[in-house]
Amino acid sequence: MKKILITGGAGFIGSHVVRLFVNKYPKYQIYNLDALTYAGNLFNLKDVENSPNYHFIKADIVDGEKMMQLFGQYEFDSVIHLAAESHVDRSITNPMEFIMTNIVGTVNLLNAANHHWKSDFEGKRFYHISTDEVYGSLGATGFFTESTSYDPHSPYSASKASSDHLVRAYHDTYRLPMVISNCSNNYGPNQFPEKLIPLFINNIRNNKPLPVYGKGENIRDWLYVVDHARAIDVIFHKGSDGQTYNIGGHNEWTNIDLIKLMCKVMDEKLIRAEGTSEKLISYVKDRAGHDLRYAIDSTKLQRELGWIPSLQFEEGIRLTIDWYLNNQVWLDEVTSGNYLKYYEKQYEER
Ligand code: NAD
Ligand code: TYD
Repeated sequence: MKKILITGGAGFIGSHVVRLFVNKYPKYQIYNLDALTYAGNLFNLKDVENSPNYHFIKADIVDGEKMMQLFGQYEFDSVIHLAAESHVDRSITNPMEFIMTNIVGTVNLLNAANHHWKSDFEGKRFYHISTDEVYGSLGATGFFTESTSYDPHSPYSASKASSDHLVRAYHDTYRLPMVISNCSNNYGPNQFPEKLIPLFINNIRNNKPLPVYGKGENIRDWLYVVDHARAIDVIFHKGSDGQTYNIGGHNEWTNIDLIKLMCKVMDEKLIRAEGTSEKLISYVKDRAGHDLRYAIDSTKLQRELGWIPSLQFEEGIRLTIDWYLNNQVWLDEVTSGNYLKYYEKQYEER
C-alpha cells in the first residue's frame, strides 16, 4: 500500500492528478497538501472528497519545519510535487512569491523526504512536476528534448528551472530517488481564469475585451490536462530513477489562431452571429520577456513508457468550452473578490 503526498492538489493540474489516483488506486492513500492560495480550490475535488483513500492537509510548503513534521507523522513513501506559483504575469509583478514557493518550498520537501527516507530508499520516489518553459524560447523550427539546455526568461520559469536543478542535485548528492517531467501548456476544466484559455472564455461570455499580447504571434503547444495526468500516472509508476521525461502532444497554435478558433466555437455555443466574439479582440502591450515559441518532443515518453495523448485538440477545446459554460457558478466564484482586484491591476497599464 502506497502513501502518496500530492502537493498542490487543489489547483488546476493537481486536482486532475488527485482524482485519477484516488479513483484508479483505491489501495493507495492519497494525501493532498495545499496552502489554498488564490489558485487552490477544494471545490475542484468535491467528487472525491469523501473517498476513504483521500485526505486533505492544509499547509504551506514554505514552512520547512511543518514539512519535516508531516513526513514523520504520515510516513509518506512517495511525493508528486505540483504545488507552485504558476502564472508568468504574476511572476513579473511579484517574483519573490515564486522564489519562496517554487524554490524554497521544493527544497523543504526534498529535505523532509531525504531525512525520513535516507535509511532505506527502497520503494521511495520524489516526482517533481515541471514545465517546458525552463528550456526558454524556440525560433520557428526545432523542439525541446530532454537534453535541451535550460534557458529560462521569466521569474516563473527561472524558479522552476532552479527547482529542477535542486531535485537532480539531491539525487546526485544524496541518492534521493526522483523523476522529473516537463510538460507543455495545459488546458481543460478547473483552470484558474488568469491563463489564456479560461480567461478568454470568461471574457467572451461576459462581452469583455480579449487582451492579446503583442501581435498574437507567440506559439504554445497545448495538451489536455487529463492527458497530462495520465502521463504523470505512467511516469510515476514506470519512469526510470533519475530520469526526465518531456510531455506534449505536438499541438502548436499561434495565440491569435487559437483565440479566433475559441471565438468561433463560442459564437456557436452562445448562439451569437458569426464574427461577434472576434470583435472583442484587443491588441495590448506585449508581455516583458515574452517567449516566442514552445514545442515539445515527447518521443522518449512515447517510446519508453508507451504514453500517447488521447484527445485531438478540436475535441478538447470544445469539451473545455462546454465545461466552463456548464460551470458558470465555478467561474463566478473564482472571479469574484480578490481576483477582480488582481485583474484590474494587471491590465490597467496596458
Ligand atoms: P495552479 O496555480 O492551478 O495550482 C497550484 C496549486 O499549488 C494551488 O492549489 C495552490 O493553492 C498550491 N500552492 C501554491 N503555493 C503553495 C504553497 N506555498 N504551499 C502549498 N501549496 C501551494 O497550477 P497548475 O497550473 O495546476 O500547475 C501545477 C504544476 O504544474 C506547477 O508546478 C506548474 O509549474 C506545473 N506545470 C503547469 C503547466 C500549465 O500549463 N498549467 C504546464 C506544465 C507544468
Ligand atoms: P498563459 O496562459 O499565461 O501561459 P504561458 O505564458 O505560461 O504560456 O499564456 C499563453 C499565451 O497567451 C502566452 O503567449 C501569453 C498569451 N496571453 C495573451 O496574449 N493575453 C493574456 O491575457 C494572457 C493571460 C496570455
